[in-house]
Amino acid sequence: MRIIATPTLTLEPQTAAHAEEMFVVLGDPAIYEYENEPPPSLEWLRTRFAKLESRQSADGKQQWLNWVIRLPTSELIGFVQATLHPNGDAGIAYVLASAYWGRGLARDAVKAMMAALLEHYRVRTFSAVLKRENLRSVKLLQRLGFLLASVAEHAEYQVEPDELLMLRRPVAKTGLGVDEIVNH
Ligand SMILES: CC(C)(COP(=O)(O)OP(=O)(O)OC[C@H]1O[C@@H](n2cnc3c(N)ncnc32)[C@H](O)[C@@H]1OP(=O)(O)O)[C@@H](O)C(=O)NCCC(=O)NCCS
Repeated sequence: MRIIATPTLTLEPQTAAHAEEMFVVLGDPAIYEYENEPPPSLEWLRTRFAKLESRQSADGKQQWLNWVIRLPTSELIGFVQATLHPNGDAGIAYVLASAYWGRGLARDAVKAMMAALLEHYRVRTFSAVLKRENLRSVKLLQRLGFLLASVAEHAEYQVEPDELLMLRRPVAKTGLGVDEIVNH
């Protein structure tokens, strides 16, 4: 994995060494309004991050790529992640501490990750599964060119009734490239 730098932030490949700083970031209750919960302890988070350093699922079929997001002022503010499937689909997720919402930083971070995945990992389709009520997340994905998937696609991805599936269609087929993603 590479470090990804933009004018507004840097994405660092996540390691166990980030656990202490990220434990504080992930303790923000606002992050969990729609799903999940904060890490139960620093030790738990350190163990989890160490496990994720394998960068792959136990069967080796999926690549698990996690980056922490760092501002030029040096603080960590969240993370972006991608699960790469053998068919070229990348399932993405992202979390920012609420103090940094509403500044376009999540968009910059996700856009930079998508550009890297297109360029270096042969990703063709991006997918995201999110809670229906999570409108901030819906808006972020729409700004990045994601569209609501069909009913059939929701069934194919085994999406729960209270969730939405949003897709960024095959990039090669629509002629879209890194520049298009970056300048969207
Ligand atoms: C989902 C999440 C990452 C979105 O964060 P966000 O700060 O709303 O998203 P952005 O960084 O793209 O900010 C966009 C907002 O900043 C504003 N903004 C300010 N300056 C901006 C700039 N230079 N560029 C873009 N947007 C800017 C935009 O107007 C936009 O506001 P709007 O939504 O009212 O139009 C954040 O809410 C979060 O971490 N939530 C908790 C975890 C979560 O739900 N993750 C998703 C699970 S699927």
